[in-house]
Amino acid sequence: MDKTIKHSWAEPFKIKMVEPVFITTEEHRKKAILKAGHNTFLLHSDDVYIDLLTDSGTSAMSDRQWAGMMMGDEAYAGSKNFYHLEETIQSYYGYKHLIPTHQGRGAEHILSQIMIKQGDIIPGNMYFTTTKLHQELAGGKFMDIIIDEAHDPESMHPFKGNVNLKKLEAIIKEYGVDRIPYVSISTTVNMAGGQPISMENLKATRALTAKYGIKIIHDMTRVAENAFMIQQKEEGYQDKSVAEITKELCLLTDGATMSAKKDAMVNIGGFLAINDDDIFEEARNMVVIYEGLHTYGGMAGRDMEALALGIKESVQDDHMRARVGQVHYLGQKLIDADIPIVNPVGTHGIFIDAKKFLPHLTQDEFPAQALASALYIDSGVRAMERGVVSAGRNKETGAHNYPNLELVRLTIPRRVYTQAHMDVIAESVECIYSQRNSIKGLKMTYEPKYLRFFQAKFEEI
Ligand code: F0G
Repeated sequence: MDKTIKHSWAEPFKIKMVEPVFITTEEHRKKAILKAGHNTFLLHSDDVYIDLLTDSGTSAMSDRQWAGMMMGDEAYAGSKNFYHLEETIQSYYGYKHLIPTHQGRGAEHILSQIMIKQGDIIPGNMYFTTTKLHQELAGGKFMDIIIDEAHDPESMHPFKGNVNLKKLEAIIKEYGVDRIPYVSISTTVNMAGGQPISMENLKATRALTAKYGIKIIHDMTRVAENAFMIQQKEEGYQDKSVAEITKELCLLTDGATMSAKKDAMVNIGGFLAINDDDIFEEARNMVVIYEGLHTYGGMAGRDMEALALGIKESVQDDHMRARVGQVHYLGQKLIDADIPIVNPVGTHGIFIDAKKFLPHLTQDEFPAQALASALYIDSGVRAMERGVVSAGRNKETGAHNYPNLELVRLTIPRRVYTQAHMDVIAESVECIYSQRNSIKGLKMTYEPKYLRFFQAKFEEI
């Protein structure tokens, strides 16, 4: 980190192109959310003012990335952009082999099918929706090994993404090494509120898994954000760059799945990166069935070029300082207004604690879903449910999974909105907080079989 920085963060860019957004009337929004069955995923984006549904594929590319799009080599095989991407991944992350995919879940699918067999156990630092589903579809079962503090929105633990090593070792001893194909480690844990794992904890997890000969597969979707948090909070890392810390994190693992739509600021893309030659050989074979030839795997040449450039931009210290600085600016506003949010503030968004916000609703009445709907009606701000709807049903009993964390995520895209937008978002949250007793619970009227949060519909009770 540059020690000569004296002033507060500001965006390390100036804006040269804008995309207009429009404010709708409350009446219009009420009709729109009713039609969408109170599911913000089913809104038309034209009806949205500030879009905080996700930070996935919604970030702004730089002029360099757009220039890279013009340098797309759209050869079916052996595109030069593939080799640029491969070289970038090897040098910035240190992984040996690259399998490009259309996005993160494409990589999760291939990896899960190759590494997981029926009855396997996959310990991980909290589930992610698509990751867990692919593990289950391959015959595996996810087991949570994150520290207990991660499930407590009030715990101020600085690294809530940490692994509870005792839980992990107990699972290894109970099920045996043969049934654990790998340990799944996410850098920043999305479902816990964008919480980082510390380098010390990842090193200890590496040491423990090495003792048993178990691989670590890294969900590196927001690895640079995790690296920034280590630089800010972990002893001994203040003088290291985000780029150095990012690589150090990756080098402690055996391979990774990446949704490049987050950290790397592209609108589409992802990859599987792996050090093992045999797994690579199988993945290279499998990618041609589900994604595309192994030198494009679901991405156009121009997408791979934009991604290679985005990776380089994602690990710049000044970029990360502004990116996380903006998220924390919004977080501090909400904390000052006594809004119950997950603490400490993570890196990619603010997570409102819907259980505390709407204590008059039970979890069966989908408080986070109801809160996201109310926020949209108030201001046209689109957020996302991350609670009981996202957690889905228990595979064996068919009952709802009731996660401790019942959250509404205000996800901030990178380089898209200004500080004034953050002010409006905070005003709107404060406004509905003052009227929270009038927010009604919901009942589910349509439930899809897989990843129900994307398409489920609801009605007010
Ligand atoms: N892993 C993590 C930690 C993610 O956040 C996501 C996507 C994926 C894997 C899957 O990647 O979408 O490219 O297929 N998260 C998005 C979100 C959808 O809104 O948090 P994908």
